[in-house]
Amino acid sequence: MTNKQLQSIAREHGTPVVVIDHDILRRNYAEFKKHLPNVQAYFAVKANAEPAIVRTFYKAGASFDVASMPEFMLVYENIKGLPAGEQQDFIWDKIIYANPTKPKETLRALDRYKPLVTYDNPAELEKIKRYAPHAGVVLRLRVPNTGSMVELSSKFGCDPGDAVDLLNAAFDMGLVAEGLSFHVGSQCTNFQNFVQALDIAAAVMRESKSRGHEIKILDIGGGFPAPYNKHVKPFSALARKINAEIDRLFPKDIQILAEPGRFLVATAATSVATVIGKAVRDGKPCYYIDDSVYHTFSGIIFDHCQYHLKSFRKGKAEICAVFGQTCDALDKISLSEELPELQIEDLVYSENIGAYSSASATWFNGFPPAKIVHLNE
Ligand SMILES: Cc1ncc(COP(=O)(O)O)c(C=O)c1O
Repeated sequence: MTNKQLQSIAREHGTPVVVIDHDILRRNYAEFKKHLPNVQAYFAVKANAEPAIVRTFYKAGASFDVASMPEFMLVYENIKGLPAGEQQDFIWDKIIYANPTKPKETLRALDRYKPLVTYDNPAELEKIKRYAPHAGVVLRLRVPNTGSMVELSSKFGCDPGDAVDLLNAAFDMGLVAEGLSFHVGSQCTNFQNFVQALDIAAAVMRESKSRGHEIKILDIGGGFPAPYNKHVKPFSALARKINAEIDRLFPKDIQILAEPGRFLVATAATSVATVIGKAVRDGKPCYYIDDSVYHTFSGIIFDHCQYHLKSFRKGKAEICAVFGQTCDALDKISLSEELPELQIEDLVYSENIGAYSSASATWFNGFPPAKIVHLNE
């Protein structure tokens, strides 16, 4: 995306606007497949639920991880909407419902699709048996999330020591435990988490086999880090480690899938906003823009992710603060950005903002979420 393109899109569509480049989506998907050729990527729709993104990844060969019935239907309808011949009848190939806790209404609605769903405790298993008896189940393990930007292990995953009993419980109820899954935490730059998680999963699979139940699917979850800064080691280095551990620990015929979210979409989007106010507070220049932490920059709050702002204007950079448009004091985009002196009506932009950003935007203060513009669809 060139500066010229961004400025012209902002002029044509107004701001705030988020520009999604589908060439980058396809490039990210191709990089994932290049380095993990034996892993089927189930794009985690929660990272960015734009239907056009689902269509682009589907055409590239991806499958999908969904967290709710609306996400399931979004994927299902967009797959169904594609030309005949490209449709899939066997839904597990294309969708995993990977939210371990599901309301009974969701399970009831899912059952007719004979879905693949995750669980991590006995109460969930009872619910699945009662309301979605045609589901295949995948047990989510708790694994180390050390150093990941978003930690998930305090909320999800069974204790590895309970895993084989939970797999057996599924078989005893007449359900089929098809697989194991884990999540090492989002934006996982500590690759050791993957190594340890694979080790834990392999031990559970071995014990389950020795007790008569062979597990066919290994779901290595999400967490693959986006290159937000130069400290993030390349994806190829992580993939090398994962491939080596998989070769070492698992049978050749194991089916491996992953649920990458951030890695596939983060770098594909840039947001553009307009400076709508300026002031000097305690000697520091402060700018107010027509986006906010309740909108495109929601990832600052929910995702613990910091975004940097850039200006199209040249000039000596100085430390400044950038605030959002709402009346809330929490709405601070950054207290320490380096920008040249800006004028009201100037445009500013923020790169790598495709994951967990517009996906969690609200209508707070009556401001609608930013417009979305798709490039190279
Ligand atoms: C079950 C599950 N799978 C996949 C993901 C995607 O993770 P990431 O965006 O870190 O790849 C998440 C994120 O929260 C998740 O909860």
